[in-house]
Amino acid sequence: MKLIVAPDYAGICEKAADIFAAEIHRNPACVLGLATGSTPVGLYQALIRRYQEGALDFSKVQTFNLDEYCGLAGDHPQSYRYFMQKNLFDHVNIPLEHTYIPSGIADDPEQECRRYDALIESCGGIDIQLLGIGHNGHIGFNEPDDHFPVGSHLTRLAESTIQANSRFFASESEVPTHAITMGAGSILKAKKILLMASGEGKAEILCRSMTGPVTPFVPASVLQLHRDVVILADEAAASLIRKQIQPSDE
Ligand code: F6R
Repeated sequence: MKLIVAPDYAGICEKAADIFAAEIHRNPACVLGLATGSTPVGLYQALIRRYQEGALDFSKVQTFNLDEYCGLAGDHPQSYRYFMQKNLFDHVNIPLEHTYIPSGIADDPEQECRRYDALIESCGGIDIQLLGIGHNGHIGFNEPDDHFPVGSHLTRLAESTIQANSRFFASESEVPTHAITMGAGSILKAKKILLMASGEGKAEILCRSMTGPVTPFVPASVLQLHRDVVILADEAAASLIRKQIQPSDE
């Protein structure tokens, strides 16, 4: 596991953009695993800026998002499809049909999960998976539980996640209670994993996930089992973990 510490949020976004840009240059038809939430917004802005400057071409890139709320169609302003369109896809030259997100309104969510896993396989797997981390250690919507789910699955959101995500909705009661998410096993299959963490509020869970026991009660701890994980943290988020893991000089 490599820890890269930047002074602030803008710094981790630029470093994440460097890593994504290097992958797209190495393999213009790469498969990127993407996340939503507050943390990746600055990374997406950096990628858009580089595209506008002519430094990036997304025409052959394919993307798979981690998760989608159940019950929200793609044109719902709080759906993750809508988020991705507004924060990245509408601003770069990625073909719409190269962007995959589970359907939140599939009649049969279990079947939708199998379809999604098969699609990822048929595209050759994910080259770089981007992750944020929840305050309870969730990655995607793999919430604390007594086991690590392997593939994509239907999940019930933890109460703390519903509360945290209610900031995007008019009220807590509007936050969907269920989502489709890639499983911990799907995430571990990615060739490289990039976890971004920003702010003091993430310091404790980041440290516990990366240096504590591997347990499904702290889902991000499973990343300790992957051979190529890069943690990109700003000074505030890295304040505890850097006492235990030496940051890389990059
Ligand atoms: C988003 C996702 C979540 C978020 C996590 C952190 O697709 O899967 O795991 O990464 O909830 O969210 P923020 O970045 O808003 O703190």
